[in-house]
Amino acid sequence: MTSVQDIRERTGDDPITMLTAYDTPTARLADEAGIDVLLVGDSMGNAVMGYDSTLPVTMDDVASRTGAVARGVEDALVVADMPFLSYGADEADAVENAGRLIRDAGADAVKLECGPHTVGLTERLVNLGIPVMAHVGLTPQRVNQLGLEQQGATAEAAAEIESLAEAHQTAGAFSVVLEHVPDDVAADITDALSMPTIGIGAGDATDGQVLVITDVLGLSEDVPPFAEQFGDVAAEMRSAMEAYRDAVEEGSFPRDD
Ligand code: KIV
Repeated sequence: MTSVQDIRERTGDDPITMLTAYDTPTARLADEAGIDVLLVGDSMGNAVMGYDSTLPVTMDDVASRTGAVARGVEDALVVADMPFLSYGADEADAVENAGRLIRDAGADAVKLECGPHTVGLTERLVNLGIPVMAHVGLTPQRVNQLGLEQQGATAEAAAEIESLAEAHQTAGAFSVVLEHVPDDVAADITDALSMPTIGIGAGDATDGQVLVITDVLGLSEDVPPFAEQFGDVAAEMRSAMEAYRDAVEEGSFPRDD
């Protein structure tokens, strides 16, 4: 069983593999494939729920899908994303929401899209026994303020991202996602931190990589510029569905036996 402590210690040459997952069969396959961390990301909004952003994703959505993922996993660490407005406004609500994902849904840790306002919350959650993965750089819950552009392009912006990551490390976070920042900024932040960095659109100097599962499998319609497709599951699904349709229409399914 991969633990938070295992991931915290994985800095350096043995890269952490992380994928998103939103359902039991996919989680089981990713676990069997040896993926270290499964993130029940609020990317589910775009990836599998038909929304055009992560903002409509609710606590009920994340809790239900975290349960589905946790039930499919034997080894991987399961991290549940705290959805938009489930944290950051009221600390007691945030603690209750994070606790629900751990206690009721079976997550091993939660992930927070970070700002200065999540430093204190990270410390509180960690003190209560809720491990926190931080997320800096492009934070899609701020799409209405920042769009989905690369972050940290100026020296000042890069320094802000680095100090935010450091503040969350000091507050007790066990790792940090660096999303869509320049490669050299990710490399500098990785050097500066003692906790591992997990990159998406952040180059190859981070301690691990994460991608959205539907992008990897070839099931997404819109993919970010930094995503990579490693298979064509859409073609397989289409062909199985067409074969089923043809068999029913021709009368060869159900078979006589
Ligand atoms: O929601 C998500 O899938 C994420 C990853 C892109 C890191 O936050």
